[in-house]
Order: sequence, then structure tokens, then C-alpha cells
Amino acid sequence: MRDSFNREIDYLRISVTDRCNMRCVYCMPGEGVEWKTHAEILTFEEMIALCRIFAELGIKKIKVSGGEPLVRRGLPGFVEALKTTPGVEQVTLTTNGLLLNDHLDALLDAGLDAVNISLDTLNPVTFGKITRYPYSVEYGGLEGKTAVVRNKALEQILTALDKALARALRVKINCVPIEGLNDADIVPLAALARDRPLAVRFIELMPLGRAASFTGIPAAALVSILTGGIQDAGGVLMPDTERIGNGPAVYYRVKGWQGRIGLIAALSHSFCATCNRLRLSASGMLSPCLSSSAGTDLRVLLRGGKPLAQTIAAVIGSKPASHNFLECRREKAGHSDKAMWNIGG
Ligand code: 5AD
Ligand code: SF4
Repeated sequence: MRDSFNREIDYLRISVTDRCNMRCVYCMPGEGVEWKTHAEILTFEEMIALCRIFAELGIKKIKVSGGEPLVRRGLPGFVEALKTTPGVEQVTLTTNGLLLNDHLDALLDAGLDAVNISLDTLNPVTFGKITRYPYSVEYGGLEGKTAVVRNKALEQILTALDKALARALRVKINCVPIEGLNDADIVPLAALARDRPLAVRFIELMPLGRAASFTGIPAAALVSILTGGIQDAGGVLMPDTERIGNGPAVYYRVKGWQGRIGLIAALSHSFCATCNRLRLSASGMLSPCLSSSAGTDLRVLLRGGKPLAQTIAAVIGSKPASHNFLECRREKAGHSDKAMWNIGG
């Protein structure tokens, strides 16, 4: 279906849970958030029923996200149900990677098409600073052992990544560079693309919720950091003319490297003109844009037995021309309920 700016809307991001097993400083408070109750969260059956309607309206690609989607039990079965929904051509997953190893086989059997792993650093100390992992009483008794736990967590993520590649799953890494936090990790993360056929993507920090108090690194600065760092390693960063996917990333290549490097200039180069997506929160709020506030409550309509197609079509029709993050930042508005954990990235 086309929106009022003639953009073809064929991509849906579904957050399956607001819970997460990390507490990234730019996303969640250290103590976590007040989790939605079981009753507030759509069941997988409800999500699948909605996806049938979305697919009838032209959604072809679905990204499963969170919170951390793999903390929700039964996720591979959900992926399989999405994959067998008529009209759905592609189902992909965004994960922090901690539990990926455990579920990889089941996800592959379910027909998962690709995985995006969020990884902001390869350094265990920085990893602890950003993710606050292991953060909670669930991991109590680890005082003094946090370094061991963090090393192990990073190791698990990298093992899952390599296993996914070995099983021919398409893999992308997403890093959000933040001034004073992981500047030093940009080049080492990019270097993962040297010997691996994956895409390492750097995303400009969007000023949503807690993220508004951090300073992201603009795409132009990232290009010069990457150019310099790769030059030091004897390579040349070159724009990649071959377009991959239909997302907002611009890709680069380095001669002799197997993978690619991508930049998502979420803020500085608004990619809204070609935006093809809708977002569904775990509690059933449908939002046409990252920047639009509340969204439309599909859960009430669904549970009330009301018809949904028209409402969804109206949300698509109301999709704004572009986001207003730069204005938000100027106003320093209190977007406290807006963060990736509840809007699904
Ligand atoms: N700006 C940009 N990216 C963000 N993510 C989480 N919060 C933000 C933000 N404020 C990223 C995560 C993950 C993806 C789902 O979104 O790191 O890679
Ligand atoms: Fe969890 Fe992702 Fe938020 Fe980090 S950014 S706390 S991994 S949802």
C-alpha cells in the first residue's frame, strides 16, 4: 500500500517484548523499566492475526525486534508462523546476540532470513559500561566476577555471529557510536568485515528518551574516522555502488575485505523520503514513524472483535513526510517513554 507521499509501505517492525537482558545506557535505566503486564502484551497468536491483515495490505518484510526478542519464549515458532503467512516474503531478527547461540538452530529451521546483531564494542570494559551487563539481582553473587561474565558474554555473541555465518545466515552488525563511550571501537568493529561476509553498520544516535542526553557521532565524522583507521591498516574505504537491501544504509567497501561497512545517517541525512516502514509495539500500538508520539491501539480493536484493515490503512495514510528529531533535540522535549525498548528499533 502507498502512503500519502506515494511511498510503498511494505516493511513492518514488530517489537515482541519490552523486556531486555541488557540495560544499554542510551536505552534503559539501570534498574529497568516498569515492564508491561502479560495481559498488556499481544500474544503471538494476536500478532500473527494482525500480520495476516498487514500482509493483505502489502507488508512483505517483517523485522522481529524488542526489547530483546529472544527473551520471549517460543520466538522461533513465531518466526515460523510469520514465514508461512501468505504475502510475507522475508522475516528477519534484531537481537543483542546474548541468547542467539541457544536459539540459532531453531531459528534457522523456522526459516529466518537474516539477523541484525546490536554490538557497540568489542572491548569488555566498554561493553560493561554501555550494556551494564550483568546488571541485576538475577546475576547476583557475581561481585568481583563481572569481568569474567562480560568476557564470556562478548565471546558468546561473537561465537553466535560466526556460527550464523557458517550456516549461511545473512548477518549485519549494528553499532551506535557515542562520543566518549565507544569512539575507540569504531575501527575494530569495522574490521570484523575484513574476514567475514557481513555488514557492519554504524547508526547515528537518535535523541529518543535517554539517548537525548548522549552525543552521537555524525555520519560525516564516522566516514573520516573509518577512512583514517582503515588507511592505517593498509586499506582504502570506497563507496559501494551496489545497493543492498532497501533500507536507509549507505554502504562502503574495502578492497580485499569480505564484508561491507554501512552508515545509517538517521539524523543528519534524513532518509524519510524513501521510508517504507511501520512499527508495531509489543502491546499493539501501531506507529507510522519513529517520531510520532502515541500510535494507534490495535490491541483494543483486536480484542473487541473490531475490523482492523481500515484503521491500519488510516495509520499508513497518516505517515508523516519526515521525522522531527532535530526539532526535538532543540526543544529537549521529555520523550521519556520513547526508546528502542518500547518502539522496537
Ligand atoms: N538511536 C539509534 N539507534 C538506537 N538503538 C537503540 N537506541 C537507539 C537510538 N537512540 C539501536 C540498538 C539496536 C537497534 C535496534 O537500535 O543499538 O542496534
Ligand atoms: Fe536492550 Fe537493545 Fe535497549 Fe540495549 S539497546 S537495552 S540491547 S533493547
